[in-house]
Amino acid sequence: MVNSKELLKQAKLGNYAIPHFNINNLEWTRFILEECNENNSPVILGVSEGAAKYMGGYKVVNDMVRALVDSLKIKVPVVLHLDHGSLETCKEAIDAGFTSVMIDASKYSLEENIQMTGEVVSYAKGRNISVEAEIGHVGGEEDGIADELAYAKVEDAIRLALETGIDTLAPALGSVHGPYKGEPKLDFERMKEISLKTDLPLVLHGGSGIDDEKIKKAISCGICKLNINTELQMEWAKGVREFLNESDSVYDPRKIIKSGEKRMKEAIRMKIELLGSKDKAV
Ligand code: 13P
Repeated sequence: MVNSKELLKQAKLGNYAIPHFNINNLEWTRFILEECNENNSPVILGVSEGAAKYMGGYKVVNDMVRALVDSLKIKVPVVLHLDHGSLETCKEAIDAGFTSVMIDASKYSLEENIQMTGEVVSYAKGRNISVEAEIGHVGGEEDGIADELAYAKVEDAIRLALETGIDTLAPALGSVHGPYKGEPKLDFERMKEISLKTDLPLVLHGGSGIDDEKIKKAISCGICKLNINTELQMEWAKGVREFLNESDSVYDPRKIIKSGEKRMKEAIRMKIELLGSKDKAV
């Protein structure tokens, strides 16, 4: 279990991206860990506040992930990362043992975002935890909450990076959480400019539903971490639906949850290949 600093530095140097897959329960964590291990890819396990609550809290998630890494004999680097945290939940996740956090103060003014992000960085620094922050606003729908996309401004991204000392930056540049209504309009020029001027590894949220060519282009413009949630949910749900439609008499929850494994692992494998993170675990 590691923080994401070195992984993302290597990804930036090597022109590839590390996958961030959101987890929802023990089985999902297991499927993701097994498939990343199989492909020798580092992995970032993203946990939203809602998912942490669903699983019983940050301590439960931390203990479960560490126990799975140990008993499944996972050899690849694994980052346990709070996705879209607040000042309070970032501290809570760090105290529970998470190795990385994202402070999302993007709905506040730039000054407030800088202040809150800076506070999380100070808390994380001595504890060897990586910190991601958001500028602009990704928007779309996640955990049942829907809001609007606001593109990041280059000057704001530079200020947030310089004045806080974050390790990674998620600028909103046209991607949204959840399924897209129409084509995503990514601003690659601005992505490149923010990458050059901040010199930070960039994160692309809302990684589901963006076509492969755009993802490759985003990586060439500085994206080093791609966040994927909805796509795995959809693949898993497809597998489960097929299984349940085939059999009226099944009721064992282990069989039902497992029926989404094959499709989910296939989607994970394809993302690893697309991002170029296969065999990048050292
Ligand atoms: P998607 O659900 O669109 O894949 O987005 C995931 C994400 O950005 C998590 O932070």
